Amino acid sequence: MLRLIPAPASPNLLVGTTTADDAGVYRLSEDLALVQTVDFFAPVVDDPYWFGAIAAANALSDVYAMGGRPLTALNITAFPSSTLSLDVLAEILRGGAEKMGEAGVILVGGHTIEDPEPKYGLAVTGLIHPDRIITNAGARAGDRLVLTKPLGVGIATTAIKRGMASDALIEQVTVQMATLNRFASEAMLEAGAHAATDITGFGLLGHLGELALASGLAATIWAGSVPLLPGILELAAQGIVPSGTPRNLEWLGARVTMDPVIGEPLRLTLGDAQTSGGLLIAIDPTREGALLEALRERGVLGAVIGELGAGTAGTITVLP
Ligand code: CO
Ligand code: CO
Ligand code: CO
Repeated sequence: MLRLIPAPASPNLLVGTTTADDAGVYRLSEDLALVQTVDFFAPVVDDPYWFGAIAAANALSDVYAMGGRPLTALNITAFPSSTLSLDVLAEILRGGAEKMGEAGVILVGGHTIEDPEPKYGLAVTGLIHPDRIITNAGARAGDRLVLTKPLGVGIATTAIKRGMASDALIEQVTVQMATLNRFASEAMLEAGAHAATDITGFGLLGHLGELALASGLAATIWAGSVPLLPGILELAAQGIVPSGTPRNLEWLGARVTMDPVIGEPLRLTLGDAQTSGGLLIAIDPTREGALLEALRERGVLGAVIGELGAGTAGTITVLP
């Protein structure tokens, strides 16, 4: 939506609203820039502590996706104090604060309003070197695409809301969403990634489409190599899919060419709206091994799921 509003002009605004990048970047000096982002949402799991931790990991993710180092954060909270116990609010804030502590980020304040539905998130400020910003526009033809968390979060959280998720899936998706993209970010910086984004509401295909478009390239996805949460295709086959997921695929429309052997459950999963998803990293093929090693050393998943090449910018071909 911000793209409809005239962009402010400043020579120090290095990344603003005109690209679909994860965070804004403002240069303070030759070797220092601010990275800023804000994210908040309604609960995605029933446990208030984990909801807080997930919202915090998700808010930090946009700084990590750009290769920045988060420094401070402000809580943004909405809460129905007349209908829900304040103990619930305390647990949400504790989850957020502990996750910030894990990330080495200092919580400096925040604001709470009265609202019928709880919502929580944070505005995060970080630092980055102006010459080392990893945007979604830097990918080159031949780059490999590496994903660092399995897909299917939107489908899994929809199954939780409908009481149809197994305990094992609830635990796995909760822990996954609360996992920081910090170590994935460190690994991509170490390996020299060309471009990156985190996978959130627009799904793998939506965020990849933005990265490919900004980089002037076409993408290929090898669907069989994309890591998925357990049981996700079975849930998708039963129509347990958030409303944002078909909308994502509809919005992409003819930009995506899907091999006809790919079934509807997998198609939906590739477009599934994620919360606190992994990083999608574009890396030179000669550095792919170094990236996978750097991820493995840090205990982070690294799945090579496709590549970028010449072609109509922003288009995606999905092969089995
Ligand atoms: Co993002
Ligand atoms: Co965001
Ligand atoms: Co205030």
